[in-house]
Amino acid sequence: MESENFMLNADLDLGIPLKAMNDQGIFNEEIERIFSNNWIFLGFVDEVLNPGDFVVRRIGLNSVIVVRGEDGRIRAFFNACRHMGTELCEAEYGRASTFTCPYHGWTYNNMGRLVGVPVKDIAYKRFKLSDVSLYEIKIDTYENLIFGNLGSSTQSLSDYLGETKWYLDIFFKASGGMKIVGKPIKFIADFDWKSGASNFAEDRLHTITTHRSVVELGYASPISRFGYVTPGLSEITACYLNDSLGRPVGAFGMRFPPEESIPGFFGFYGDHFREHSKPEGVSEEQYKVFQRVSHWVGTIFPNLSFFTAADQTDKSGKPNSPVSLIRLWQPIGPGKTEVWTWVVVPRVLPDEIAKRVYEVTTSHFGPSGVAEMDDTAIWRRISKSASGNLARRISQLIIGGLDSVSDLPVLRDWRGPGLVRPTQFHEDGPRTFWKRWLMEMGYEVKW
Ligand code: FES
Ligand SMILES: [Fe+2]
Repeated sequence: MESENFMLNADLDLGIPLKAMNDQGIFNEEIERIFSNNWIFLGFVDEVLNPGDFVVRRIGLNSVIVVRGEDGRIRAFFNACRHMGTELCEAEYGRASTFTCPYHGWTYNNMGRLVGVPVKDIAYKRFKLSDVSLYEIKIDTYENLIFGNLGSSTQSLSDYLGETKWYLDIFFKASGGMKIVGKPIKFIADFDWKSGASNFAEDRLHTITTHRSVVELGYASPISRFGYVTPGLSEITACYLNDSLGRPVGAFGMRFPPEESIPGFFGFYGDHFREHSKPEGVSEEQYKVFQRVSHWVGTIFPNLSFFTAADQTDKSGKPNSPVSLIRLWQPIGPGKTEVWTWVVVPRVLPDEIAKRVYEVTTSHFGPSGVAEMDDTAIWRRISKSASGNLARRISQLIIGGLDSVSDLPVLRDWRGPGLVRPTQFHEDGPRTFWKRWLMEMGYEVKW
């Protein structure tokens, strides 16, 4: 690691410096090493269903237009005019057959080709428009999720997701497919993107303290994951899920209520699934998990997270509903993150129920969500501690569950991949995230 800012406490083997949570040098390295070489989530196919539909997203600090061309193909382009580089599109989403630069009027069609240049016959007589098009970025899809990649690696998205697909398929395929509800919800806060991403890799231990108020205020149902062990509930974590190159790329936690209590199906109103049989492409074993699971949470490296929890309330007196989202921890600067949240539900759910999921989800997560406020207030305090130079002298002790400090069982008869434990009370999930982060940043990993 070349960055001068990156100094480890030599006494600790874990090597996750607190300084990593707020440092310009490390942030710059992350943008170059992590966000310029991995598959980064951009949005849903559903957001660009018709020719001309576009959304503007980011990969690292780059603005990217994701657009469905007149030919029906989805492409992603660097949102910069090829003339002098002006940001081409300021809108966040819309439908357009062309994009015209506000500076000198160069115009591109929705397939990225330059199709018009004012006063071409005078100023650019011998210039061939067909020689120039918007800078195209490689994309790939998993189900209806679109990812982009700035790097030159030939690893496909499918190989990148690797073992995480066993779990993703339970959510995205066994359900018959997921759809988004409404537009993404966004807010900016003063915490580092890694706080969110590593927390959603199943930092179960924080829920006892950080989210105590959610339980006390009555927002969490008795089967909520917020709090201590719930009698009758079983749970697992699947950590160190690897990509095709053997690098850790994700971790998930799942919970299973007793069969006689609430239904599984992530809490999504089981009646909608009971008459359906197992969809193509998922195994019996995966479908069994779908039938029983009530909660999951997880992160795919670097910055995409998932959270669905059955039987939650917004205290409006209306029926309980799952909280269900996927989210992106968008790095903006050291110790500064823009959080994007999409509410997701199975396609088979009627709009009315989907709306209820949206209401309950946004009461928990998003700028005014009760759980969100708990988390972001704490993560800000990590960035604050990390802003000074003493943060170079200590490492984060993310050691829960390590063999050296505990004696945790491994679930041997679980069919899915990863290191699977029958408890969530450890820190293998966050460590999965950090292991990959250290590898990406060129560090030796000692566990
Ligand atoms: S910078 Fe876009 S037309 Fe000149
Ligand atoms: Fe939390």
